[in-house]
This record gives sequence, C-alpha cells and structure tokens, in this order.
Amino acid sequence: MSTVLVVYGTKTGCTAGIAEQIGRTLAEAGAGVDVISAEDKPDASGYDAVVVGSGVRVGSWHGAVKEWVAAQADVLKTRPTAFFTACLTMASDPEKADEVRAYTDPLIAETGITPVGAGLFAGMNEPKKFSLPERLIMKAMKAPQGDFRDMAAVTEWTRSVAGALGLS
Ligand SMILES: Cc1cc2nc3c(=O)[nH]c(=O)nc-3n(C[C@H](O)[C@H](O)[C@H](O)COP(=O)(O)O)c2cc1C
Repeated sequence: MSTVLVVYGTKTGCTAGIAEQIGRTLAEAGAGVDVISAEDKPDASGYDAVVVGSGVRVGSWHGAVKEWVAAQADVLKTRPTAFFTACLTMASDPEKADEVRAYTDPLIAETGITPVGAGLFAGMNEPKKFSLPERLIMKAMKAPQGDFRDMAAVTEWTRSVAGALGLS
C-alpha cells in the first residue's frame, strides 16, 4: 500500500479541515494516510508521497509550513509532492487563481521542489476566529464573511492528483 503524508499549516482550523478531507479522499483511493500539522514537524522520509498546504496571510503561506517544506526539501524532491492553498481570494475573486498560485513561487524557487499539483481552495473569514488586528485588516479589505470551503471541490482535486501522487 502506498503511504501519503498530508501536512498543513493553519491559524483558525480552516486549512486543517481541508487537509482532513484530502486525507479521507486519499484513504478512499487506497493509500495509507497520515494528516499532521507542520508544527509537529513530521518526517516525510517514511512516506511514498506528500501533500502539503497552508492558509495565507498577506500573500504568503504560514511560517511553520514554509519552514517545514524548506527543512524537508531534499526528501520532498525525491517523491511526488503536491501543494494546496486555502485563502479568501479563491472565495471572492476566483478569477485571480494565477495570483494565488504565485503565493508559493518564492518557496518553489527557494527549495527547487516541483509540485505535481496545486490545489487552490476557498477558505474562511469568520471574524470570531481572528485576532482584533486581523479582524480590522479583513474589515478594511471589505473581505466577504463566511466559511467558503467547498469540500466537494477538495475531493475532486484530490482525486485528480491521486495518479500523480502514485496512486491508481
Ligand atoms: C491578516 C490576514 C491576511 C490575509 N491575507 C490574505 C491574502 O493575502 N490573500 C488571500 O487570499 N487571503 C488572505 N487571508 C485570508 C486567509 O487566508 C483565510 O482566512 C484562510 O481561510 C486562512 O486559513 P487558516 O485559518 O487555516 O490559516 C488573510 C486573512 C487574514 C486574517
């Protein structure tokens, strides 16, 4: 059985929920799956493939995920690795997908990893889950409020990338 490590970075739990859905879908495809926070610094070398993703703050993945990818880059370059991003742009302006895809360009340039896929997903803006300064930023940006996660879209993307991850 192929094994897949799903790693995520989150501030509110939004991206953790997406990672869990990716994990469930890969398990249904027959993989042995672990879903682990980047803060727990899992070792990717024990897995056949990796899916890693993050929520976004000001055009960038969270620090803990970027640090984990950089620390594991030598391993990630030797097995299929897919990225995913959860953010509000994919909820409010999905036509700006290229802008969202570019959030990970600096990480790709720094590490030399070539992802086999890039899932771009709508996240959430639930003010209760943000700090006061974060709430004010979101208000100033007139960001739409709500949980915009589309788990059917997450499942569809995961199925579409399963072959590239080495699952049939
Ligand atoms: C201070 C702040 C900055 C943000 N910056 C961006 C951004 O640059 N682009 C974007 O699409 N979403 C942005 N977001 C939205 C988050 O990426 C979104 O809430 C996402 O669901 C967060 O996932 P997480 O809580 O799992 O980290 C921002 C949110 C906050 C609070």
